[in-house]
Amino acid sequence: MRGLSLTYSPLTMSPPRIRAGMVGLGMIFEETYRPLFEGLRQSGLFRRDFGDVDVQLTAAASRTGRRVEKLPGHVASFSGPNAVTDMVAHGVDAVCIATPDDRHFEPARAALAAGKHVLIEKPSVLRLQELDELMALARQNRVLAKVVYHKLADPDHKKLRSHILDGVLRHVNNGYCSLLEPKQISGTQFAEWIQGRNPGSYVGVHYIKLIDFTFGGQDMALHLISATAQCGLVPGAWDSVQLRIVYLHRDGREAAFDIHTSWVHPDDFPGHVDQEVQFRFDNGVWNAHQRRRGVEMVVEGRSPREFKTTPNHHYSTDFIEPWGERTHRGYGIEVLRRFFEEVAFVEFGGPQSERDQRLASMRALSYNDLWADRNTVAVVQALEAILAHHLQGRAGARVEVNADRGGLVLTFPGRTEHEVLYPARVYSRCP
Ligand SMILES: NC(=O)c1ccc[n+]([C@@H]2O[C@H](COP(=O)([O-])OP(=O)(O)OC[C@H]3O[C@@H](n4cnc5c(N)ncnc54)[C@H](O)[C@@H]3O)[C@@H](O)[C@H]2O)c1
Repeated sequence: MRGLSLTYSPLTMSPPRIRAGMVGLGMIFEETYRPLFEGLRQSGLFRRDFGDVDVQLTAAASRTGRRVEKLPGHVASFSGPNAVTDMVAHGVDAVCIATPDDRHFEPARAALAAGKHVLIEKPSVLRLQELDELMALARQNRVLAKVVYHKLADPDHKKLRSHILDGVLRHVNNGYCSLLEPKQISGTQFAEWIQGRNPGSYVGVHYIKLIDFTFGGQDMALHLISATAQCGLVPGAWDSVQLRIVYLHRDGREAAFDIHTSWVHPDDFPGHVDQEVQFRFDNGVWNAHQRRRGVEMVVEGRSPREFKTTPNHHYSTDFIEPWGERTHRGYGIEVLRRFFEEVAFVEFGGPQSERDQRLASMRALSYNDLWADRNTVAVVQALEAILAHHLQGRAGARVEVNADRGGLVLTFPGRTEHEVLYPARVYSRCP
């Protein structure tokens, strides 16, 4: 074969490897991480800039270890109070955290402190103070700290943002978003961790992030957060939350968004999740119904529980491809795969002497880096504080952002008392 220069032969060289560790093996693991790792095990990860990379799920930290036993291949299992520190000491390169909403910070801190790349399920953390600590650790240890918001990868939302960046839709003024989860979620799936929690922090974050990522940036600053909520159906937790966030455009005009969430919607409703948005602009309107995506299906005795009447085949679904292969695809998996591409690019995308430049370029990505999650975490922190006061019989609080007295200041209209939730300024610029 004169004239051909072979630099890589799959028969003689094994590709570099990323060993992934998983913390939490619940619903989201089954929906997106499991098919991701199965797909990566079969086909690997390839891109021309970093080549062929082997990504394997090699360890998992869980509460009991029972689910790890059912995973294919050899996955080292860690459980108990030191599960995460033991897992990172065992040797992994990247850690994915899919524990309940209020249990992300500790495992993320342990993994970043040990110098591992980290991917956290939404909401990343519940307080800006925690975000600051994670960011400092990621910088110090020169690793990636990222968060998953799969709705940013939904093609409809990508197109919306493209229209904004291309100047087709101009100057957002207001809008609403609604995301209602079935009772089964609060009653069964999350029964173990639902105490004290609320659906606004759980799923409202998807739309807080969508708004912030799509319309925010340099042109709109987060200004005011208020909320109210109802309880009485789910023992010890909030049933539904109505959140309002107000931004200020550079020209001084306001943009206001109402985000309604619940986890007490009827189990028999026609889709997995009832969700829709409407955004209104100076020159247009964007309506998206993420439940009714155009397909309707009825199967006697099986829909709408087992098969939904209005299914979403874009998020995470198994298919038989026209060429006979069984695959499992969707934007919920695509967004996770992209994290491993970013890790592979940092570690294998060029010479070691240029790693810091590659790291900086992956950190600059505002769709998933923790620094860019500041506004979303600020809204979650404000919401949690407003609801805590509500529970004590003090409804109607609101939180001002970057006010004279601090970055997040909780006030009650007409009263002088206030509480500084976060003293420093809330900003969203790549440090
Ligand atoms: N990206 C998304 O759109 C999306 C969708 C659903 C859930 N989530 C997020 O993912 C996270 C997990 O949600 P889920 O739906 O999988 O919940 P789940 O209740 O189904 O699973 C949580 C898992 O974490 C385990 N766990 C609990 N405490 C733990 C601990 N201290 N250490 C290790 N494991 C622990 C539980 O045993 C369970 O297996 C939540 O933060 C949720 O908001 C994200």
